[in-house]
Amino acid sequence: MKKLLVKNINKLYQVRENIQKPLRGKELNHVPCLENAWLAVEDGFIVDFGLMNDFPGISDWKDLNVIDAENKNVFPCFVDAHTHLVFAGNREQEFEWRLHGMTYQEIAQKGGGILNSAKLLQNTSEEELFLMAKKRVEMLIKMGTGAIEIKSGYGLTMESEIKMLHIIQELKKHFEIPIKATFLGAHAIPPHFQNRKNEYIQHIIDDMLPKIAEENLADFIDIFCEQNYFDYHDTLKILEAGQKYHLKGKVHAEQLSHTAGILAGVKMNALSVDHLEYANEEDLIALKNSNTIPVILPGAAYFLNLPPAPASKMIEYNLPIAIASDFNPGSSPSGNMSMMISLVCVMNKITPQQAYNAATVNAAFAMDLNNMGWIDRGNVANFFLTDKSVTPTSFAYHFAHPLIEEVFINGKKFVS
Ligand code: NIG
Ligand code: FE
Repeated sequence: MKKLLVKNINKLYQVRENIQKPLRGKELNHVPCLENAWLAVEDGFIVDFGLMNDFPGISDWKDLNVIDAENKNVFPCFVDAHTHLVFAGNREQEFEWRLHGMTYQEIAQKGGGILNSAKLLQNTSEEELFLMAKKRVEMLIKMGTGAIEIKSGYGLTMESEIKMLHIIQELKKHFEIPIKATFLGAHAIPPHFQNRKNEYIQHIIDDMLPKIAEENLADFIDIFCEQNYFDYHDTLKILEAGQKYHLKGKVHAEQLSHTAGILAGVKMNALSVDHLEYANEEDLIALKNSNTIPVILPGAAYFLNLPPAPASKMIEYNLPIAIASDFNPGSSPSGNMSMMISLVCVMNKITPQQAYNAATVNAAFAMDLNNMGWIDRGNVANFFLTDKSVTPTSFAYHFAHPLIEEVFINGKKFVS
């Protein structure tokens, strides 16, 4: 494999050496950078970096591919630790109903929402679904995302949940970025189990999980802990069942109401709890005494007009907040991570530096990666180039502008 040297970088952002843990409290306030720098990549990994003034000369390198950054800036790719990007059709009609005054919950109660997406997905072939998901992943990479977590949960039958997880497995093979698969069978109670929630949970645990584990189709397990969906005890049960197969837990928690999903997640030592609009003081204290990462999803809060999760309070409590897109057809039909940075700054009132760190370093930990999301020797060489004027603040400030000029995945220029 060719070696790559990127020289004449104006600013090399997010350079951090030997990070072992996500950033907390004051650590989130600053984004380190090297000025007038170079970056070297071998076999897809960052092998070295430094200042142009101290350039060592790597004359023993054969097949060296040199890129002159011509004073552009280099940023590590964003990490998107929460998406549902395998889906069929769209929910534009529901969006319009909401604009006319219906709530997300009302639409769900009349068969819209997750059940609508499940019906559409069940009637779409694996091939078609794969092609649509592939296009979405390509689009996200072009927008600077270099690692993605993807959930099932629009299947809700054994067959369709496995179909979704197979598609995610194919995406893992097709793309050279880290992709993690999350089994979200407990996303909603399907119509064929109506009023039989406990039986559906038992079906997930006794039938779906063993098959999924046997085929090695999931890295994590997740549940929607919410009124009319699943509760605290269901969450404990599902996460415990996942643990038997070494699947780390994640919880959709406190999104539309306070349902104790955070407390359940913390109790089960979940990797992350996500959404958190209705998180209270007791939840923040529980998180402070845990290793569970709070993930804020500003796209869903914006799109459903929810109150902002208490992000700055979480930082005060020294919590390692992360942010993710929640890309899905119902509550966040965008996977644009720079837009998410802007939304979280404006709605949740945190600084651009805090938001940028939450979308890179901490987001990597929220998907159990320790070699992505920042620039260090040994890390995956997924990064992008921007104009020299772009700073971490620019992603928030120039919201939704395409600031990213070229994306490199494993040290190779990404072309779809
Ligand atoms: O993360 N909250 C639950 N699940 C998704 C939305 C799913 C949907 O509406 O299709 C979310 O917001
Ligand atoms: Fe979600």
